[in-house]
This record gives sequence, structure tokens and C-alpha cells, in this order.
Amino acid sequence: MRSFSLRLASKALWQMRVLGRPFVLSHGINASCNLKCSFCPYWRRPGQEMSTPEIFDMLKDARSFGIGVYNAWTVEPLLRTDLPAILRHAKSLGMITSLITNGRLLRQRAKDLPDLDFLSVSVDGIKSYRELRGIDLQEVMDGIKAAKAAGHEILMNCVISGKNMEELEDLVHLAESLGVWISFEPLHESRGIDEKVWDDLGIRDLPRYESAVDRLMELKKDGAPIINSQTYLAMIKSLKPRFKCHASDIILHVASDGSIENCRVHKGHLGRVSDGLAGVWASSKERRMKTVRECQGCLFFGYVENSLLYELVPEVMAHYEWM
Ligand SMILES: C[S@@+](CC[C@H](N)C(=O)[O-])C[C@H]1O[C@@H](n2cnc3c(N)ncnc32)[C@H](O)[C@@H]1O
Repeated sequence: MRSFSLRLASKALWQMRVLGRPFVLSHGINASCNLKCSFCPYWRRPGQEMSTPEIFDMLKDARSFGIGVYNAWTVEPLLRTDLPAILRHAKSLGMITSLITNGRLLRQRAKDLPDLDFLSVSVDGIKSYRELRGIDLQEVMDGIKAAKAAGHEILMNCVISGKNMEELEDLVHLAESLGVWISFEPLHESRGIDEKVWDDLGIRDLPRYESAVDRLMELKKDGAPIINSQTYLAMIKSLKPRFKCHASDIILHVASDGSIENCRVHKGHLGRVSDGLAGVWASSKERRMKTVRECQGCLFFGYVENSLLYELVPEVMAHYEWM
């Protein structure tokens, strides 16, 4: 397990709870994707991309602002040819590095990522994979094996939808057989995507969904490599976000064009990296708090689990197994 060390956890808590600053920089490192998944809003907004020197400057600014984690998370990080240099730069500044990828380019690029600490790969199904993602699962499996051979510790992330509910246990066994971790989160029906997509993919058969999540909870209890806490799994079973959101206390979101946004759901503009991170953070406090007050909540596992960690919920501290 690669969890936070005590030293890092103390640094994170000091930064967030005492200094009131974010600990994670989540970066839209590029603006395009090599897949066109129907449920994903990100590839639909092509935009500008920051240059390598602009990203280096942002990382330096982030480090002096106390940020300890650099996460390259949209749209498809492996498309960015300067990714190894960006990760190296973040590491050289003392940051922990992570990224999430669809895995399509992982077989070719796994060996280029020696400065990556946490690698997440989206794997949403077995039989349903092609329908959901439009490519053959084998391509991604080959990538995961190459990344394992290159020494990476890996998390497979599965978005639960109406298409893959029957496959969750098989996905857990697939993760076990590959020697990787697995996480689950329910499909988020984002605004701006045709309702027909949600009619087709949405979680509609609630009894079937609830028993699929129950089974995940049992598997976790029996030692399966599921990173989610039981608190989170119980929450997604009800599909009701019951937590105080601290996403915008923890994470600074930077879109591919260098604009700073409050979170992945609201995407409210707070400023630009060129304005300086500390200044944008300080001047956006009221707006960030207002967004949280008015938000109906979401169930993205990164937001929920980290908000619960921020609140020092014991079960989550004991059983959430990733960064
Ligand atoms: C936006 S993708 C970017 C990284 C990469 N291209 C990938 O596919 O993993 C990051 C994560 O968001 C998830 N995602 C995209 N659309 C979603 C939705 N509507 N609901 C829940 N998760 C979603 C993806 O499955 C992936 O795990």
C-alpha cells in the first residue's frame, strides 16, 4: 500500500487546516483525448494548452505556496510528449506526482515515467469495456502489464454505470490477478451531455446497483484490493452525498489553458495561474465557500474520501488505501 506517511499527512494537515491553503494541484495538462467516451465532458472542450515553461513556472509557484502533490488528470496526460520532463520538474521541487490515464498509450510510455509516484488507469468494465470506451480492453491490459514491469504501483479506476454493474466483482478479481489496486465511483450525470447518454448509461436499476455495491463492501472486508473506504461505499450505495465538501480547501484546479477553477463539477473561474496562485486563492475564498454552500454534492471518490480525511473520520483514515 502506498498511503501517506505520517510526516506527509502532518504537512498536508498543516497546509490545509492551519494555513488554509490547498495541498493538491490538479492539472488539465492537455486539452484533447485519444478516446471519445460518451459519458465524459472533458474531451468536448478543446482549448489552449500551457507551454512547458509556463507549467514549470506554475509548479515553482505551487511549491512555494506549499502544495505537495501534482496530479496530471485531464484530458489525457499520456498525449503530452513533455510529460516526463514535467513530472521530473515536479519531483525535483519535492512534490509527489500522480496521473490518471485511459491507458491507451501506456504500453509505449510506461518506461518514460520514472518520476511518477501514483498511476491510475481507467478500466470501467470487461465485457462492456468496448461499448463504454470504444477500444479493445486488451490494449489497456498490455499497458498495465508494461507499467507493472516498469515498477509502477497501479490503481484501476472504475466508473459504475448501468452497463457494468454485473461486472464489478470480476473487475476486482481482474485487479487481484494483475496485482493492482481498484477504486469505484458512480457515474456522474454531468450537465452539457445529451440526456440520451444518461438514459442509456445511467444507474436506473437501484436494487441491482445496491446489491453490486454490497458485494464490493463484502469483498473489501475480505481483503480485496479495493481502495475505497467502507464509509464511501455505503454512501455511494445510497447515491446520496452525505459529507461536507472540502474539495476546494484541498485541491487547486488548473484547466489546460491556465485558468483556475473551483472544482470539476462547477468549473467556476477563479483567476489565472499567471496572476499568482497565492493571490487567486486568497481573493477567491468567498466564491469558493459560496459554491460549497450552494452545491447539491457529488460522489467523486477523490472529493468524498479526501473531504472525510480532512474531517479526520477514523474509518476513512484506517481504510482509504490510496493517496
Ligand atoms: C476525465 S478522465 C481523464 C483521464 C483519462 N483520459 C481517463 O480516461 O482516465 C478522469 C476520470 O474521470 C472519469 N469520468 C469521466 N466522465 C465521468 C462521469 N460522467 N462520471 C464519473 N466519472 C467520469 C473517467 O472515467 C476517469 O476515471
